[in-house]
Order: sequence, then structure tokens, then C-alpha cells
Amino acid sequence: MHSSLPTVLAAMLLGAAAATPMPALSQEWPSPHVTNTDEAKVGTYVLPDPLISARGAPVRTARQWPSRRREILALAQDNQFGRTPTTAFRTRFEVWERDAAGLGGQSRRSQIRIRFSDDPGAPVLHVLLHVPAHASRPPPVVLSLSFEPNIMTLGEPGVEEATGWDLRTHQKVVGSKATPIGHVDIAALVRRGYAVASIYYGDIEPDFDGGVAFGVRPLLAAAAPRGPHDWGAIGAWAWGASRVLDYLLTDPEVDGRRTAILGASRLGKAALWAGAQDERFAMVIPVISGEGGAALSRRDFGETIGDLVAPGRYAYWFAPRYKDFAADPRTLPLDSHMLLALVAPRPLLLVNGSSDTWSDPTGEWLAAQAATPVYRLLGRKGVPAQRPAIGELAGKDLAVVTHDGGHTLLARDLDLIADVMDAELRAGRK
Ligand code: GCU
Repeated sequence: MHSSLPTVLAAMLLGAAAATPMPALSQEWPSPHVTNTDEAKVGTYVLPDPLISARGAPVRTARQWPSRRREILALAQDNQFGRTPTTAFRTRFEVWERDAAGLGGQSRRSQIRIRFSDDPGAPVLHVLLHVPAHASRPPPVVLSLSFEPNIMTLGEPGVEEATGWDLRTHQKVVGSKATPIGHVDIAALVRRGYAVASIYYGDIEPDFDGGVAFGVRPLLAAAAPRGPHDWGAIGAWAWGASRVLDYLLTDPEVDGRRTAILGASRLGKAALWAGAQDERFAMVIPVISGEGGAALSRRDFGETIGDLVAPGRYAYWFAPRYKDFAADPRTLPLDSHMLLALVAPRPLLLVNGSSDTWSDPTGEWLAAQAATPVYRLLGRKGVPAQRPAIGELAGKDLAVVTHDGGHTLLARDLDLIADVMDAELRAGRK
């Protein structure tokens, strides 16, 4: 196990603008693969065409897209994230706090427990909802997938302590003692007029190998033994996000039909997968999602599939089948541009960091370019041919920004995210 990993991640994600170099991470496990960070050594590859069906037929019209979309979704389920069970489940929403004064009076705060079982040991999703105090009508919502239990998110009184996970010992602890590996300043989004629903990913499933036993997966399907196409932790986090959306769609204080899902890093992968599957998400914002997320796997730069599934690392995030592509990612029948295409025509914003070589920001940019024909087919814009300067937003509907910095979510990223949401979610399209 790499017990120092949470510390390293904390330094990366919580750090200020200064980028923390990534190579230390790539040396933490034995790997025959030397991490490539040299553009000249990326190698050649051909991406599968998102607009050619499995039978080889070109997809020429928007009407032909939904069936191609289903094919791509099945490829992503079977080979990467695993199949999300369609088992019936029971949900109960307990709104136990309503309209408390939050953020020093800037918001109306509600807290909701989402339960799936009466068993006291079953997972409970704790939703922390802040609605701008002076919203004249139900505002759009940002569903923020958080590394922190809600009690740590803002540090204001009255938030349920709940529980969290110590990622070093794998023990359940009180919420305020959980291992924090990232932070999103949700107050900045509330100040921009957005409702924010924040949820701790560990409520859905704790993030360690074996965490499956403590999360939602056993509620829906036998957790062991895992078949090749069974879902992993990212699938579970995405499923949990959809359950929060189920709730938001019932809450009259917010406009749940305009919900953007936001997550960084591994939660960027989860946000992308949630948005790819669940078309009720109106916008998708994966930040520094990297390998297994928005970055192309066929490009040998930074982290590889082999790194993700290396012993002691993150195979449990994915379907067991994903390992089969570690030796040669060109055998994976899809690549990240097709994950991005699954979000089309809904707005999708990729945020990444110029010095975050581990997550390959260029690989995300190239994926966005390769997904752009799908956005265009569906009457949207996508990204331009030229990559813009660092810090500049490129594209519309499908857009990318590479911030000047590393593996982190910066304050100015949140500003830009709000700008793009203003244009995409408030501009009267929905
Ligand atoms: C590791 C992992 C990445 C992941 C990141 C994170 O670096 O290799 O794939 O995105 O952790 O979640 O911060």
C-alpha cells in the first residue's frame, strides 16, 4: 500500500497556485513502465471514430446519434467503468434541516439524508445544500463531489458531524477526523448565484481497495466475486451522484433540471462518468480528471492504464476488464474522446493544469478536439483547431481551459466555471 499517497494528494489538491510536481507519485509503486513526459516520445496512435458505428456505418445525422451513443456507453461500461446495475432500490429523503442561515447569512442551508435501507449500518448520503439567500427564483445547482465530509466543507456550525474515512487505516471515523485530500470552495459558487449541493464521496463508498464492503455496491449487486464487466468504485460514486440528482429534482428551492456536476481528479473521472451515463445532468465539469477520465489513453504521456491498475493502486475504481488494456491501450475499444461525446450535446467543460504532466492536459485537449465532430453533428460548437494560451477558455458547449499550475482546483478556475455556467445554464437554452 502507498500509505503516503493521501498526504501527497492533500499537498497537491489543497495547495495554492504553486504546482506540486507529480513525478514522486509515479515512483511509488513498482512499474516496468517509465512515465513519459516527453512529447517527442508519445508514439503514434489512431483513435476510434465516434461517428462510425460498430457495423462500420457512418453516423451522418443527429437522429442517428442516439443508437451510436448506446454503443459507446456499452463499450465504456463493459471495458472501463463496469456496468451500473439496474436493480430496483428504495430511497428515502430525510430533509432534517431546512433554510438555516448559512455562510453568515448569504445562503439558506438545508441538510438531507438519502437512505437506502432501514439497516443502521447501511450507507447514508449526507447532502449539504446551500441556496443563495436572495435567489428570486430556484437557481441552477452545482452538485459538488467532495473529498471531505460535509462538516469539513465550510467549517460552519450546525453541519452534521456524520462519519468519514481514515484513508491510512481504512477505519470509519467521525466526519471531522476524515482524511481530506481535496477541497472545493463552494462558497465562491454560492456567491455567484448558484445553489451548491455538496456530498462526501466516502458516504457512497470509501476510497480504498476493499472499500466496496462499506459502500452502496452491495445494496445493488453481489460485491464478490467480481466479474470482468462489474462496476468499480467510480461507478458507485457516479451512481450516488445520480441519487443526489433524484433528490434535487424534487426540491422546489432549486432548479434540479439545471444541475451541473463538478468533481476534481478521481472525482473528475466520476463526474464525467456520471454525466456520461445520466442525461439528466445538464452540464458536466471534470477538473484534472486525467487518465481514465478525459485524457486519451492511447497517448503515452503521464499516467497510463497500467499505472492506474498497478498492484496497490486503483484497479478497484474500474471494471476488472480494464486491466486487460494495460499492456496496450490501443486495444481498448474506446478512448476518452468517446466518453466526452457521451455528454453531447450538453455543455461539458474540462479544466486542467499546465504543469500537471501526470494527468496529461494535452491528452484532454486532443480528446476534446476528437469529440468536437459529435458536438457539431448535434448542432453545438466544440473546441477550435488551435489550442489557446494557458488560462484562456477555448470552445463553446464543449470547452477546455488549462490553468497555469498543477494538479489542483484554483480559485480562478471556480470563477471561470461560474462564467461558463452563466453562459450555458442561464442563457435560456433550458
Ligand atoms: C492519483 C491517480 C490519478 C488520480 C489522482 C487523484 O494521482 O494516479 O489517476 O486522478 O490520484 O485523484 O488525485
